[in-house]
Amino acid sequence: MTILLLAGSPSAPSRSTRLLHHTGEKLALLGHRTRQLQVRDLPATALLQADFGHAGLVAACALVADADALVIATPVYKAAYSGVLKAFLDLLPQDGLKGKLVLPLATGGSQSHMLALDYALRPVLSALGARHVLPSIYATDAQVVWTQPGGLTLDADIARRIAEGVDLLSDALPLPPPPASPANALAGLRCSA
Ligand SMILES: Cc1cc2nc3c(=O)[nH]c(=O)nc-3n(C[C@H](O)[C@H](O)[C@H](O)COP(=O)(O)O)c2cc1C
Repeated sequence: MTILLLAGSPSAPSRSTRLLHHTGEKLALLGHRTRQLQVRDLPATALLQADFGHAGLVAACALVADADALVIATPVYKAAYSGVLKAFLDLLPQDGLKGKLVLPLATGGSQSHMLALDYALRPVLSALGARHVLPSIYATDAQVVWTQPGGLTLDADIARRIAEGVDLLSDALPLPPPPASPANALAGLRCSA
């Protein structure tokens, strides 16, 4: 079981990507296997020209296909999600999220567009066949603060909502089997005498 952390911001540094990585760290602490994909790292011309056969884009789409669940993070841009995220989602097959769980995250400048994930991104995820889209998590810039060397500080309400989202996702996904070790191998043996 793999969870793909998909970052949809064209910027670096990026608040939404930091929130995404925070979420990924919590999932990893629970034993989940995570992988990362930043849309901003994809070949730009191929992305803009929807070059479906480009090796870099084929590999990125394969990461989505291999994932059992995705956490998708985006900034709010002009009352919706980012254009680069849409450009990438447009490359997926029509059922590219079939059977997958999705946890959507967004950051925005104010509370004005806190429903953007629900009215803009959620219908796209459903159209791509997502099995279940978990409740969206939206944070304003003021609620996601990064300092050097303090690192990430989250508003208490956002930290709680992230923890709830992580629990919902984790509960819905079986954990990968623990790595084989001599102790685990011995635990599986039975004495016959
Ligand atoms: C081009 C652009 C458009 C934006 N449009 C909105 C908007 O419509 N509503 C809003 O609340 N914030 C808007 N913002 C603010 C960003 O959503 C916010 O700063 C976000 O945290 C940036 O995330 P990032 O650092 O991951 O890119 C906009 C920012 C930019 C650069």
